[in-house]
Amino acid sequence: MLIAQISDTHISIPGSRNDLQFRTAEHLERAVAHLNALNPQPVLALATGDLVERGRIDEYERLRKLLDPLAMPVYLIPGNHDDRESLAKVFEHHRYLPRDGQFIQYTIEDWPVRLVALDTLIPGESGGRLCAERLRWLNTQLADAPGRPTIVLMHHPPFTTGIRKMDAMGLDGSEALADVIRQHPQVERIVCGHLHRPIVRRFAGTVACTAPATAHQIALDLGEMPRLATVMEPPGCLLHLWLGDSGGLVTHVSLISDRYPPFGVFDGREWLRDARPPARFHPDEATTRP
Ligand SMILES: [Fe+2]
Ligand SMILES: [Fe+2]
Repeated sequence: MLIAQISDTHISIPGSRNDLQFRTAEHLERAVAHLNALNPQPVLALATGDLVERGRIDEYERLRKLLDPLAMPVYLIPGNHDDRESLAKVFEHHRYLPRDGQFIQYTIEDWPVRLVALDTLIPGESGGRLCAERLRWLNTQLADAPGRPTIVLMHHPPFTTGIRKMDAMGLDGSEALADVIRQHPQVERIVCGHLHRPIVRRFAGTVACTAPATAHQIALDLGEMPRLATVMEPPGCLLHLWLGDSGGLVTHVSLISDRYPPFGVFDGREWLRDARPPARFHPDEATTRP
């Protein structure tokens, strides 16, 4: 079973600053084509938050159109840029999204790997939170199926990364989450977004990771960064391959990059590159909230 994870699509309306700077819609189109062209194709996709830039209805409508060609079902969770109400309204046809309650949290039982989605959003804030109510719900869900391999998905990762400006907008409630996760060894992975780059850490007896973004990445600066910078490194997604109880869950980074030299495709004779030049961005010109 192959599970794709895309993250931080940050779709905004045509002509907005974000749209012009990072071309997030164009990048998502490319990500969708990338997932559809994979062989084997993932059976499902996860989109781990910051789906749109400002939580607007018209942004979600644009996102819906961009996701339409995706050949597999996609499961959405909110990030700090999202708005629960607008998301649920435009994606009403996503029947797994809860119709009541304060949070967008749900469990998917349909696949060999069980999916438990957590909502870390605090409206108006960049950081996230797992309050007692959300964690109680998680504990109940995990206690319901102790024998089933499970992926927990959430936007904010429950660990600091060394990228200090991002850690400053991290997750409140990580220790309480660890207390819950430790009791449920069937959790194979906690998959997150928010960092706009792939990062892995041991967490409470399982493995937690973040995904690259489909458009702009956060600059890898482990020093005293004066301000947060974004870079147009090759975008990517994660591919989580479930190999059964003996093989476990293996996670690959799949770059969506063959139009950015030098990440072309070598066909045995020559480098095949797209004729279109990469977008010209300089980290200093492009700063944004992740
Ligand atoms: Fe975020
Ligand atoms: Fe983001």
